[in-house]
Amino acid sequence: MYSKEFQESLAAVEAARAANIAYEPVRMTAQEKDDLLAAYHPDYKKSEFSTLQIGPNKGEKVPHELCEMLQAHSRISAADIDLDDIKYDVDVLIIGGGGAGASAAIEADEAGAKTMIVTKLRIGDANTMMAEGGIQAADKPNDSPAIHFVDAFGGGHYAAKRDLLAKLVCDAPEAIQWLNDLGVEFDKAPDGTMITTHGGGTSRKRMHAAKDYSGAEIMRTLRDEVINRGIEIVDFTAAIELILDEDGKAAGAVLMNMETHELMVARAKTVIIATGGAGRMHYQGFPTSNHYGATADGLVLGYRVGAKLLYADTLQYHPTGAAYPQQIFGALVTEKVRSLGAKLVNRDGKVFMHPLETRDVAAASIIRECSDRAEGVDTGSGEAVWLDTPMIEAIGGEGTIEKRIPAMMRMFATYGIDIRKEPILVYPTLHYQNGGLDINVNGMTTNVENLFVAGEAVGGIHGRNRLMGNSLLDVIVFGRNAGQNASAKAKDVKVGKLTLAHIAKFDAEREAAGIETDTVSPKLLPDYRNKKNGIK
Ligand code: FUM
Repeated sequence: MYSKEFQESLAAVEAARAANIAYEPVRMTAQEKDDLLAAYHPDYKKSEFSTLQIGPNKGEKVPHELCEMLQAHSRISAADIDLDDIKYDVDVLIIGGGGAGASAAIEADEAGAKTMIVTKLRIGDANTMMAEGGIQAADKPNDSPAIHFVDAFGGGHYAAKRDLLAKLVCDAPEAIQWLNDLGVEFDKAPDGTMITTHGGGTSRKRMHAAKDYSGAEIMRTLRDEVINRGIEIVDFTAAIELILDEDGKAAGAVLMNMETHELMVARAKTVIIATGGAGRMHYQGFPTSNHYGATADGLVLGYRVGAKLLYADTLQYHPTGAAYPQQIFGALVTEKVRSLGAKLVNRDGKVFMHPLETRDVAAASIIRECSDRAEGVDTGSGEAVWLDTPMIEAIGGEGTIEKRIPAMMRMFATYGIDIRKEPILVYPTLHYQNGGLDINVNGMTTNVENLFVAGEAVGGIHGRNRLMGNSLLDVIVFGRNAGQNASAKAKDVKVGKLTLAHIAKFDAEREAAGIETDTVSPKLLPDYRNKKNGIK
C-alpha cells in the first residue's frame, strides 16, 4: 500500500504494463556499456579511492574506507601475547563460519585433519545465509562448463584468473550433486530434474535454487553437517591477528572473545581465511544487503602478514536493493525477480534497460535514470526506480510469486505491499566484494605459505564483476578445495617458533610512510552510533 505521493507514477506503471510485458528491450552494445559504467558506476568514481602507501599492494587504489583499515594499527602488540600459552592446537584453523568455512571444514574433517572453525558471531551468520536467487552450474544437456566460462569471463570484463574460473565452472555440476546428497532441497520438477532459470549475463538457464532462500537452505545443510561431524566451533570469538612461524609461514591466529575481550592463541599447521565480504564498510555511503559482520576482516589479516590483494578496487552494487520502505532500505531484492519476468521501469512507466544485463551495467543504468535523466521516483529518502513485479504473475500465471519467491512476497507484505499486485521501488545496494586475497588454484595465497583463502575474501575468481549465482558456487567449490588442500598440506607441516614480528614491521612501514592514524583493524563490527561509519 503506497501513500498518495506515489499514485501518479504508479498509475503510469500500471497503464504501461501490458505493452511493457510484450516489449523486448535491446541489449546494450559493448561500447554503450563501457560508456555507461565509466559515467555512472561507483567503481569509476576516482574521488572515492585512496592510494595504498604501505604493504604488498603499495601504489594501488582501494576505497577510502578499506585503505584506512588496511593501513591501520593492529588491535594488539606482540608484548600483549604469550605465544607459548597455546589454547588451541589444530591441523587446520578456519576463520569464518559461513558457507566457505563450513565447506572447507567438512572436507578437512573428511581427510582426517584436526579442524576448528572460529567465528566472531555464530556459524551461519554470513552472506551465504542471505543469498537468495540461486547457484549456477552447467549441468543441463544444452549447456557446458565451457559456455559457463564464456558467460562469466565476459561478465567479469575478461579479468578473471583463468585457472580459477575454469575450476569454478568445471567443478560446478559436482558441487550441486554434493549439496543435493547432503540434503539441500533444490527446486525440482515432478520428474526430479532440477528447475533452472536465467540470471543476468547467462546464455543458458543454469541457476539452481531453493525458492528465494537458496543461501539459507544451503547454509542450513552445511551447518548441520559440520555439527553432526563434531567439528570444533569456537563462536563469538574473532581472529584479530594472524601468527606466522619463524620462516614466515602462516601458523595460527590470535583470537579475541567478543564479550570478554580475552585473548587466546590458536596454533595451526595451515590457516584458511573464510571471513566473507565487506558490505558493512558502506563504501561510498551505500546501504548493503550484507550480514552484520561483513567488514573485510580477512583482507586486513592477510594484508598485514604480506598477502597480496587482487582487484580490491572493485565492488558489486546489486542493482535491486529495496529502496522503500525505509525499514528494509538496502535489503536484497533477488535478481530472480527479473529472471521470472519483472522489468525495471522509471517514474513514467518506461522500460529503460534490458532486465538481465550484467549487474554492474544494470546498477549503472539505474543510477543514471535517477540522476542525470531525473526519471527516478522520490521515495522521501532518495530516488529509486520501479521493479514491476505484477508482470511475473501476468507472464507465469497466478501463484508464481508465492511459489517461486515467497520470502520476497512476505518481506514486502510486512509493510503492506502486495508484490503480486503492486510494483516495488529499488536502487543499487552494496552487495559483493569482487576483489580480495590473491590465491593459486590450490586455494593458497600466492605469497604466504600455508595461508589459504576461500569464499568472498578471494579476489580474481570473477574478475571485475560477478554474475548472479557464481558466489554461492565459489563458496562451495573453493571452500571444499581449500579444505582438501589445507588438510593435505598440514600433513607435511612442522610448525616452527611462533612470532608476531610482522606487527612491528608493519608499524615501522607505516611510520616511514608518514601515515598518522589512530584506527585499529580489523573492524569486526560496524558502529552505527557513529554516522561516519554508517550509511549516509
Ligand atoms: O540476486 C540474487 O539473488 C543474488 C545472488 C548472488 O549474488 O549471487
